[in-house]
Amino acid sequence: MNMKGIVLAGGSGTRLHPMTLAASKQLLPVYDKPMVYYPLTVLMLSGIRDVLIVSTPDDLPQFRRLLGDGAQWGMRFSYAEQPRPEGIAQAFLIGDEWLAGAPCALVLGDNLIFGEHLSTAFRGAAERPDGATVFAYQVRDPERYGVALFDETGRATDIVEKPTTYISPWAVIGLYFYDARVTEFARSVKPSARGELEITDLNRLYLEEGTLQVERLGRGCAWLDAGTPDSLLQAGAFVQTIQSRQGMLVGCPEEVAYRMGYIDAEMLRMHAKRLGKTELGRLLHDLASGVHA
Ligand code: DAU
Repeated sequence: MNMKGIVLAGGSGTRLHPMTLAASKQLLPVYDKPMVYYPLTVLMLSGIRDVLIVSTPDDLPQFRRLLGDGAQWGMRFSYAEQPRPEGIAQAFLIGDEWLAGAPCALVLGDNLIFGEHLSTAFRGAAERPDGATVFAYQVRDPERYGVALFDETGRATDIVEKPTTYISPWAVIGLYFYDARVTEFARSVKPSARGELEITDLNRLYLEEGTLQVERLGRGCAWLDAGTPDSLLQAGAFVQTIQSRQGMLVGCPEEVAYRMGYIDAEMLRMHAKRLGKTELGRLLHDLASGVHA
């Protein structure tokens, strides 16, 4: 069965107040696109075409308005509410029926992942039939994340959520690939001390079984989460730098849909036209005409 994908875009975005008092964090602009475009295109690049967008009852209508049913990009989008932020792993319980026993990838709606060869790694993870695959990235502030420990052969030996003392610089990024047993595993996760179904606890179930693969991302990759004013600004500056310097797009669903063969040049030209005189529209128009191919 083909892998499906979930974008988790709920929560209250308290670290971005007052910007998120009346708007969803994952719809705030990261340079020239809504934040959710970036994780969404990561799923698209992994070869996933069925995507469930999970957000709060208040915010979900805005996502629907922005993304529709996905047909414009050759995708299929569905929507589900998460009434309260009761943990990342809860996404699999919310999506249980929709998943109907399919393997599933989950991406956090505020994670921006960019780098050469990454789509090959993600496609590999999406095609792996058994177990789970997650990715680790070296950071200066691992205490803010789920952190992976490795033995001398490079095998992950443990994952700890927000360790209070330094154990390793390897943060687990917000993109996870699971086999068809994921909802069954998620059901056995118990709420943590902070009352959440922790994604790290779900990953530990696979780790204990010996089927969790933790792939380390090298220095050629960028992983940013846009959860604070500083990281939001940094993410926007990053996208702006790459796009204006190289003329290449970051996190653009129209481009990805075209490159993946989900839409043709005519459809791409239509999208470019709809974006009017924006720089994004111009770049897409060039792409449809074979410039920057
Ligand atoms: O960004 C990667 C990190 O994400 C991982 O390294 C950690 O293991 C993982 O627990 C998570 O840590 P955070 O502290 O960043 O999680 P946070 O509670 O901020 O949630 C991440 C995003 O998911 C955020 O944009 C809000 C959304 N979310 C979160 C929860 C708990 C939901 O939509 N619903 C939820 O119930």
